[in-house]
Amino acid sequence: MSKKLWGLVIVALFYAFAGCAFAADKPLVVGFSQIGAESGWRTAETESVISAAKELGIDLKFSDAQQKQENQIKAIRSFVAQGVDGILLAPVVETGWEPILNEVKKAKIPVILLDRGITVDDESLYVCKITSDFVFEGKTAAEWTVKELGGQGNVVQLQGTPGASAATERQKGFEDELTKTPGVKILESQTGDFTMELGKQVMEAFLKKYGKDINVVYAHNDDMGLGAIQAIKEAGFKPGEDIKIITVDATKAAFEAMVAGDMNAVVECNPLLGPLAYETLKKAIAGETIEKWIVQKDELFTKDQAASVIGSRKY
Ligand code: AHR
Repeated sequence: MSKKLWGLVIVALFYAFAGCAFAADKPLVVGFSQIGAESGWRTAETESVISAAKELGIDLKFSDAQQKQENQIKAIRSFVAQGVDGILLAPVVETGWEPILNEVKKAKIPVILLDRGITVDDESLYVCKITSDFVFEGKTAAEWTVKELGGQGNVVQLQGTPGASAATERQKGFEDELTKTPGVKILESQTGDFTMELGKQVMEAFLKKYGKDINVVYAHNDDMGLGAIQAIKEAGFKPGEDIKIITVDATKAAFEAMVAGDMNAVVECNPLLGPLAYETLKKAIAGETIEKWIVQKDELFTKDQAASVIGSRKY
């Protein structure tokens, strides 16, 4: 073979090897079907998933479902068509996922549930869920309520999105715990869909109906609690004193409300799930065994702690 031909062969081999190396370094492609942007908590979660993808060099396909399950289903189908390596799904509601997850299973794409759970007969349809323990959060809120009321008083409950595991389980944990203290009664429970606007509207209706008889508001998230604070102020009461408020999430906004004296307590729910989601997905792709529920540990913060803790809050 001539020198020139040898040269060409070497160059061709170089490009072939470089191509292989390049393929090995190919970024992981991940689809994330997010519920929407209904709360400060969810915005923090979205930021966590997007910024972790940037840090890790992951090619993230992001889709905002505007609170609609049908949009999530469309997004997942499009992730499958694009041939993603894995899917992160924050499911708006618990039921109705079997058909689309069966399609994903056929395509051999691992699915990780982020921040809420689903109900399916076949648990192999997803790798695992990474969520807080919502029953624990509700129970913690009830324990605080009973203590705060000295075992006697009236509560109204602002529930999250109907059918969402975060709402169903926060309600269950709260109501089950309250059955131990018959002196504490729930006057009424209504959904505020996890939004500030609806939380305010529902609270206005509660105030019209029950007025000063309301002692505590238990809101399934901060945004609805913040909406309730506005309604209480507009009705001429002092939130945090005339009517006490406990919420779930522990966002900066809730801490600010506690520092201002408008809110009394929050149960934490960690939204910073991005890094853990990718770490888990990589393990799943590598064929490692993954726990079915990766639980996030949360704690209670009260008004008295707010000023000293607010500076260290990360969301
Ligand atoms: O699923 C988690 C819940 O969803 C958060 O508590 C709430 O703020 C969000 O909208």
